[in-house]
Amino acid sequence: MDVFDKCEANMGHLGMYADESEGYYMFPKLEGEIANRMIFDGKERLVWSLNNYLGLANHPKVRAADAQGAKDWGMAYPMGARMMSGHTKYHEELEQQLASFVGRPSAYLLNYGYQGMVSIISAMVNRNDVIVYDSEAHACIIDGMRLHFGKRFVYPHNDMAKLERELERATKLARKTGGGILLITEGVYGMAGDLGNLPEIVKLKKKYKFRILIDDAHGFGTMGPTGAGTDEHFNVQKDIDLYFGTFAKSMAGIGGFVAGDEKVIKFLKYNMRSQIFAKSLPMPMVIGAMKRLEMLRDEPEHREKLWTIVNALQKGLKEDGLSIGNTASPVTPVMLNGTIPEATQITYELREKYDIFCSIVVYPVVPKGTILLRLIPTAVHTLEDVQYTIKAFKEVKRRLDNKEYPNEFKIGKLHS
Ligand SMILES: Cc1ncc(COP(=O)(O)O)c(C=O)c1O
Repeated sequence: MDVFDKCEANMGHLGMYADESEGYYMFPKLEGEIANRMIFDGKERLVWSLNNYLGLANHPKVRAADAQGAKDWGMAYPMGARMMSGHTKYHEELEQQLASFVGRPSAYLLNYGYQGMVSIISAMVNRNDVIVYDSEAHACIIDGMRLHFGKRFVYPHNDMAKLERELERATKLARKTGGGILLITEGVYGMAGDLGNLPEIVKLKKKYKFRILIDDAHGFGTMGPTGAGTDEHFNVQKDIDLYFGTFAKSMAGIGGFVAGDEKVIKFLKYNMRSQIFAKSLPMPMVIGAMKRLEMLRDEPEHREKLWTIVNALQKGLKEDGLSIGNTASPVTPVMLNGTIPEATQITYELREKYDIFCSIVVYPVVPKGTILLRLIPTAVHTLEDVQYTIKAFKEVKRRLDNKEYPNEFKIGKLHS
C-alpha cells in the first residue's frame, strides 16, 4: 500500500463531493469588497455567510489603520517567535487592552485562534488530568484533546444531567490519578447559534472541583452588554477560569487571545507550543487589532446595528413558520428537513434565482435528514436585505414541503 493511495480511494466526508461541488458549494470565491453584497460566479449576490458581525472588515477606519500599519511596519516585523526575537511592546499593549476589556487580569495573544486553542488545551492538562467536554465542540478543541495523554469524557450537547454524571466519573478518576479536571464549552455554538449553558455549568462548581475554559469565538464582540462575551451576557465572568476569543469574527482580522489569571497566562505563555515555535503576529495585525478593539469597545452602535438586523431576521423567519432552532446569538440557522441532494437544489435556487449566498450545512455536521442553511447577520446588512431574504426562504420551504425539488445532486453552475 502507498500512503498516497487514499487520495483517490477515499477523499473523506467532505472531499467525496469535491468533483461536483468545488468552486460552487465548497471553496466558492467571493469577490469584491467585503459587504452585504459581493460578487459570486460573476454576479452580485446578497451574502449571509461572513462572520463580519460588527461590519468592521471594510470600515474606513479599519482599512486606514491596516494600511498605516503595513506602511509603517511592513508585514515582516517582528521577525521570529515571541520567545526568541518576535516580541514587542505593541503586542503587550494589545494584551493589556484585551485583558481589561474581558475583565481578566491578564491575556496572551495567539497567532490564529485554532492553533492557540490546540495549545491551550495541550499545555493545560497532563496525563493525570481529565477533560470533560461538550459533544458539539469545535474542531480546534477536538484537535487539542488529541494531544492529551489522559482521559476525556464527553457529555451530549448542553445536557446538564449527563454533564453531572461525567463530572462524577471524572472526579473519581482524578482522585485516583491525582490530577485535576478541565471542562471545555463554547460560549456561542457557531453552527446552531445556541449558547453553552454557562449558568448551570458554573453552578456545578459548588459540587465538583474543576476549571472552565470557554471558546467564545462567536460571542466575543457580539454578546453581553459591552460585547465582552457570552460570560458577560450570563454575568458569570468571575467563574469562567479561561476565556478564549478569536480575531477572525467580530474583529474581522486574524489571530486570537486567551485571558485569565496572571499565573495561568504566564504558564501558558511559556508552554503553548504552537506559539513558542511559530512566528509572532505581524505588526499590521497588532496595530489593526487595536483599532478594531477600540471600535468594538467605544462604538456600541456597531453592535446595536448588528442586533437590529439579528432581531428582525430571526423574528421574521419565525413568524413565517421557519425553524431557527434554539439560537440566542446572531448565528441564525434555518432548519429544514430534506436530503443532501435536496439541500444542493435549494442552495442552487437561492443563489441563482434569488441571488442569495448562504452556507449550507448537512450530515455529518447535522443529523441525517436535516438541512441547515446558516445565515450570519451583520451590521452592514439592511432591513430590506432581511425582508427580501425571509420571503425567499418562505418560498423555498413551501417548495420543499411540496416535494418540488428533485432528489438529485444539483451540480453548481460553474460545472454545468
Ligand atoms: C468556535 C470556534 N473556535 C475557534 C475557531 C478558530 O479561530 P481562528 O479562525 O482564529 O483560527 C473558530 C473559527 O474561526 C470557531 O468557530
